[in-house]
Amino acid sequence: MSGQLPEPHRNSGPSNNAVHARAIAQDEATAAAKGGLEKEPAPAKSKAAQRLVLNLKAIEEAKRGLDQGAVTPHYGPWRNDIIELLNDSLATELICSLRYRRHHFTAEGLSSPKIAEEFLVHANEEMAHADMIAKRIVELGGMPDFAPDSLTRRSHAGYDESKDLKSMITANLIAERVAIESYSQMIALIGDKDSTTRRLIEEILAVEQSHAEELRDWLAN
Ligand SMILES: [Fe+2]
Ligand SMILES: [Fe+2]
Repeated sequence: MSGQLPEPHRNSGPSNNAVHARAIAQDEATAAAKGGLEKEPAPAKSKAAQRLVLNLKAIEEAKRGLDQGAVTPHYGPWRNDIIELLNDSLATELICSLRYRRHHFTAEGLSSPKIAEEFLVHANEEMAHADMIAKRIVELGGMPDFAPDSLTRRSHAGYDESKDLKSMITANLIAERVAIESYSQMIALIGDKDSTTRRLIEEILAVEQSHAEELRDWLAN
């Protein structure tokens, strides 16, 4: 053990022991005067010695709070913020779906029926995004906000009542770029705080990016 004194030499008598003990006491006094007994620095743990261990207390806590559904102690304090972000995205998707739907019906008979058809495809994809987001809000224990009165106020993207095809495409491209920017910011904000929501937003973002590419090509032609 580290506190054990070294064994005296076989031939040393009691007087030698006393000298040895004094020498140790002197060394300790000198070290104390320097500012305390100096300890050998603890050897740094090698990477192999570091362990990945689970928080068993949190696992036990997960057995309670059943009304929280999928939200366990690991989730952290971000739930309300993430639900709020998702509800704003839900409003954005609903407005985008309404705008594309309106463009689909009013663009019929204009120069490009193919684009009018594509507006309907986008409208349905935006509505599918709204459904995905609403489902996730419920999984997080929140309430999806479909209240029509506040939709345009809560949406990041605007509604549009253009009458010509080019203005419709422009309005949709602006809205897609707004959605892309807001989803990109959300992904950065959420990070590893909620990997399921982040993956959902990444999936939606990829579709918005393809919408924007398509609209830009139409605008260029
Ligand atoms: Fe969308
Ligand atoms: Fe889109």
